[in-house]
Amino acid sequence: KNSPLTDSFGRHHTYLRISLTERCNLRCDYCMPAEGVPLQPKGNLLTTEEILRLARIFVEQGVRKIRLTGGEPTVRRDIVEIVAQMKALPELEQVGITTNGLVLTRLLLPLQRAGLDSLNISLDTLKRDRFEKITRRKGWERVIAGIDLAVQLGYRPKVNCVLMRDFNEDEICDFVEFTRDRPVDVRFIEYMPFSGNKWHTERLISYKDTLQTICQRWPDFEALPNGPNDTSKAYAVPGFKGQVGFITSMTEHFCGTCNRLRLTADGNIKVCLFGNKEFSLRDAMRNENITEEQLVDLIGAAVQRKKKQHAGMLNLSQMENRPMILIGG
Ligand code: GTP
Ligand code: 5AD
Ligand code: SF4
Repeated sequence: KNSPLTDSFGRHHTYLRISLTERCNLRCDYCMPAEGVPLQPKGNLLTTEEILRLARIFVEQGVRKIRLTGGEPTVRRDIVEIVAQMKALPELEQVGITTNGLVLTRLLLPLQRAGLDSLNISLDTLKRDRFEKITRRKGWERVIAGIDLAVQLGYRPKVNCVLMRDFNEDEICDFVEFTRDRPVDVRFIEYMPFSGNKWHTERLISYKDTLQTICQRWPDFEALPNGPNDTSKAYAVPGFKGQVGFITSMTEHFCGTCNRLRLTADGNIKVCLFGNKEFSLRDAMRNENITEEQLVDLIGAAVQRKKKQHAGMLNLSQMENRPMILIGG
């Protein structure tokens, strides 16, 4: 097919991740440099209208799923409005968010009324004191309450857990336990390098090691089928309500089936999580003389520059990229 969203390796991009803000109400040290990130003037960030315009254009070109990320997407005041407006695009099948869960008890019902289809919640520890250590903020109970509320409201949330040596490796089985009585899918994520996040191979826990830890405790832990563009490999303990997944970005990348594009809060199209060649759709869009067709051509040209796969673990740790907080995952 000759879509501007098909890259030179034949990958169709039907999934767009939009970062709504560069701010976050937590301070996780694997996501953000210790000194924080410089805040951009508000005028550099996409307005709500610009976000919705780009969303419409991408959907017209074939995007069927949009995930709202950040920073922390819920700190953007108009997130409910943004979800509602996106849900008004008939061809868009799914709108999801990835959130730290801190304010879900206040915001999830309005988001559900606006049409939110799914949510992924980040939680790296089931111990309150550890949560405060890694996030440098309080709020563990609120995240747990947010997960419970999501289940009550009929969602099947995914819980994202980044595993790090000497931090939470002793909680692997506790997280699997978490899926026993809850329709919640826990996903263990391999720790990835981003600017300023002190990544080190020794802190990475590979999915094979995690799998082994789980299989020692539950020998019947079994692999399940995956969707064509899933980032995670699905497993479950038979009889448990939730599943367990592994996001193996570092030891077994899944770039061959990648269907994702990204839009940063300051309006750059970023065609790969680990691609540092970005292009400002904001600047293009703010030129009043640009036609919609030209905008689509610029998007297509960026997609054509997408690489076949990321550069490999050790190269990535050397490469210039944004800190994770400015990408959104
Ligand atoms: P679904 O949309 O539900 O499939 O979730 P997701 O796994 O794509 O998104 P989420 O925001 O929950 O991210 C979970 C982890 O997967 C984060 O660590 C992301 O950085 C990582 N991730 C998401 N998309 C990609 C991708 O395209 N490539 C790589 N390498 N990692 C990704
Ligand atoms: N490595 C792996 N995952 C990360 N995330 C944030 N930083 C990293 C990292 N360095 C996760 C968050 C969130 C998702 C969007 O990405 O925990 O769940
Ligand atoms: Fe896609 Fe880049 Fe992620 Fe690979 S690293 S799956 S190409 S976004």
